[in-house]
Amino acid sequence: MTHPVPEAMSPGPLKRVLVVSYSQTGQLAAIVERILAPLRADARIAVHVETLRPEPAFPFPWSFFRFFDAFPESAHLVPPALAPLTLTGEEDFDLVILPYQVWFLAPCQPITAFLKHPVAACLIKGKPVITVIGCRNMWMLAHEKMRGLLTALQARLLDNVVLTDQTPTLASLVTTPLWLFTGKRQALACLPVAGISELEIKRCIRFGRALLDALLAGRECNDQPLLPGLQAVVANPRLLVSEKAGTRSFYLWGKLLRWAGPPGATLRQPLLVLYVLFLIAIILSVVPISLVVQTLLRPFLAKRLDKLKQQFEQPSGSGIDRLSQYDF
Ligand SMILES: Cc1cc2nc3c(=O)[nH]c(=O)nc-3n(C[C@H](O)[C@H](O)[C@H](O)COP(=O)(O)O)c2cc1C
Repeated sequence: MTHPVPEAMSPGPLKRVLVVSYSQTGQLAAIVERILAPLRADARIAVHVETLRPEPAFPFPWSFFRFFDAFPESAHLVPPALAPLTLTGEEDFDLVILPYQVWFLAPCQPITAFLKHPVAACLIKGKPVITVIGCRNMWMLAHEKMRGLLTALQARLLDNVVLTDQTPTLASLVTTPLWLFTGKRQALACLPVAGISELEIKRCIRFGRALLDALLAGRECNDQPLLPGLQAVVANPRLLVSEKAGTRSFYLWGKLLRWAGPPGATLRQPLLVLYVLFLIAIILSVVPISLVVQTLLRPFLAKRLDKLKQQFEQPSGSGIDRLSQYDF
């Protein structure tokens, strides 16, 4: 006959997981909660959620000027101030989950602020990290920047999970800004609902189930991905031409805007109007033209695109061989 272990003698958690949290509409928070559900349900895992609070807070919904005024600092990875963290940097975690949104083809400002915070440098050094992206659909170059930030911190990036809006690129170019400016996912009945589908968010529980198994087996100590075979990321390298053009323009115009003053400076406003006109011209020309040209050149580009797809899907990959085990 077995006796229940008295509470005072029960062993503490076996594994400690740090999760950084920031979400304006609640979309990324919902994705993260689905991933965390299996970990939270197991007494052997302790989850600490560190919520980032930029000071001053970024607005939601956004006004037109506040929105575009955020691009220079986003593109140049300039960190905003954060309210004091609850952690000191002396805590020891077995795994760090870093969810982030993409803002202007770069990691969003609050996560950049965290990664440039001295406390994060202590927490993350040498630790296994899993990034989770929830964005419209352009994340590849933001992730290159994220890799750079993590390398500077000597983190070990084990996995990258990416969730995107599945409506066609040209449709979400309209629905996403409408959502961000009005706060409504479906601002007009004739347009698709903006954001990542509820089903895809629900299915994120598969990552939590796989993580639980991996943590209990101690696999986070190795350098192999913990989430292969779960279709963690499906890259679309056809968007890379637009991402490169956008990143270049955000960087160069961002320099000019930053020269004109800090966020909110009066001199930035006329420059922002000019930039937005330029951006609309780029979006209406570069995005459709590059997609059409790539469609025409598909037979010649196939090998190159395939190589890029594999490269951007590292380390977790788009394989599906473990879905039957974890996606039920
Ligand atoms: C200022 C800003 C810029 C954005 N830029 C991009 C972008 O370049 N690429 C992209 O795919 N999504 C972009 N998005 C969409 C976000 O990545 C994200 O999907 C959306 O803001 C909802 O996130 P949240 O509610 O979890 O914070 C942007 C959103 C904001 C607020």
